[in-house]
Amino acid sequence: MANNIRYFIGNWKMFGEPKSIAILNKINKFVKSDKKLNKKYKVVITPPHTLVQSYAKAFSKQKIIIGAQNCYHKDNFGANTGAISPYMIKSVNAQYVIVGHSDNRAEGDTDEMLKNKVENSLTNKLKVVFCIGENKDHKKNNKTFNVLEKQLRNVLDKKFNSKDIIVAYEPIWSIGTGQIPQPDDLHETVKYIKKVLKNIFAKQSPAVLYGGSVDSKNIGQFSSLNEIDGFLIGGASKSDQNFIDIIKNYYK
Ligand code: PGA
Repeated sequence: MANNIRYFIGNWKMFGEPKSIAILNKINKFVKSDKKLNKKYKVVITPPHTLVQSYAKAFSKQKIIIGAQNCYHKDNFGANTGAISPYMIKSVNAQYVIVGHSDNRAEGDTDEMLKNKVENSLTNKLKVVFCIGENKDHKKNNKTFNVLEKQLRNVLDKKFNSKDIIVAYEPIWSIGTGQIPQPDDLHETVKYIKKVLKNIFAKQSPAVLYGGSVDSKNIGQFSSLNEIDGFLIGGASKSDQNFIDIIKNYYK
């Protein structure tokens, strides 16, 4: 079982309105009461941009940490309609930002843009959850390791502070589909990711999470994979009960 700190990061995607804070209140209450284990893990929730400020304020002295789901690749203020920069996210006290989610890559995020997003987020003292993952075809054609290595090397620079970066391995074929990797495959893939990271960051490698259809029923299958430092959870993070059960069942 786990020794390092574990992360349970909820990605709400396009979900949530002000009253959805009730979900977080319940999760927060659980984490507070989980005195035996709550020093072993961190809970981060990334609501949509519309809710980041109010939620970050509400949980500023609580157990739950609030992050954002994406940021613009340019920083500060600019003539970019609809864009939100890392500086603006930090200004409302979010602490984390997801960068490179496959949804955003599919909408046109290039490696160059992602590198700028990571760099500007780190400059603004945001912790970055950097997502990578292969699609079905890559997997079928045994290209997974190649693809993951490129995604890492094209964006992560050895000059970045690796302590502020978390890598989330999310196979695209697994996101929202109910399909999860075979434990042996996942073990090998995460080992490979860690090897590449060690090569980029000589000193301290970022934590590596798994994401893709994680829920309270399958989380037990991941508990024995000690090299996985936590989880990026989409659909199941919209339900307080499911999210709480993920944490409970992980430590069962
Ligand atoms: P999922 O999403 O848990 O609903 O598969 C994960 C993600 O996209 O981050």
